[in-house]
Amino acid sequence: MIDIDRRAFMAYLGGAAAVAGMTVEARADALENYLAASVTAAASAATSGAPTVAELEAQIPARNYRRGVGNGMVNKDGGNVALLAPLPSKPTLADFIRLRLQSNAEHCLQSARQARLRNMDEDIVFACLVHDLSLSLMRAEHGFWSAQMFEPYVSEKITFAIRHHASLRFFPDKDAGYEYPELYRTMFGSDYVPPPHQQEEYRWVRRHRWYMAPRLVTVNDLYSFEPGVKVSVDQFEDVIGRHFRQPKEGLGFDGSPVAHIWRTAANPDAPL
Ligand SMILES: [Fe+2]
Ligand SMILES: [Fe+2]
Repeated sequence: MIDIDRRAFMAYLGGAAAVAGMTVEARADALENYLAASVTAAASAATSGAPTVAELEAQIPARNYRRGVGNGMVNKDGGNVALLAPLPSKPTLADFIRLRLQSNAEHCLQSARQARLRNMDEDIVFACLVHDLSLSLMRAEHGFWSAQMFEPYVSEKITFAIRHHASLRFFPDKDAGYEYPELYRTMFGSDYVPPPHQQEEYRWVRRHRWYMAPRLVTVNDLYSFEPGVKVSVDQFEDVIGRHFRQPKEGLGFDGSPVAHIWRTAANPDAPL
């Protein structure tokens, strides 16, 4: 059991209001980084708060998992994982959101709610609704993983929005209402520079006629939740119906090139 100075941790995160506005995932990452930063600070008397890239890299051999592992694949609090509830024989997207991809579902539902409140086009609302769902399986390259999961079932523009939102998060666009997230200084390092392939991806997307699609996903990609607001997938049944081609055999059983990804989500306890 690790003792945490609660007041110091809240101050590190920017106070109670900032904490209330973070996803469960962001809080877990912040705690992980806080603990590591505390150790680093004790050793180096560093005062800047956010760790450097080198400091984050030095933490890698101090964990029993890699940071890119899916949120549903490991209990980062150190406890055990839970038995999963059975899925229907022909599972739908809503079934997966409720029963398998929960680790980031709340964040996605909140983002979709924001997009809807801002009267954005329905395809953007849908992109927001699913943009981070692959994080349950794999965190590294999550824009591409999420886009791949959905590609056979949605429009090309929605796939584009999902795929590129992740890289656009590193590149501010004040005119669109998007600034670099403070949290990323903690997660990626205070001196982090996106790798060349990601910079190239950004330059290409920036010139694309659909640039605003992934950009609007980042604009709604909030770490701030409205206290007391609970969003249910039921509220998006109509949006899902219009923008997602649900396979009649059930996700995972339609023979599509990505069916295995859905089967992996359905049964992440399969040993091979
Ligand atoms: Fe994301
Ligand atoms: Fe997100």
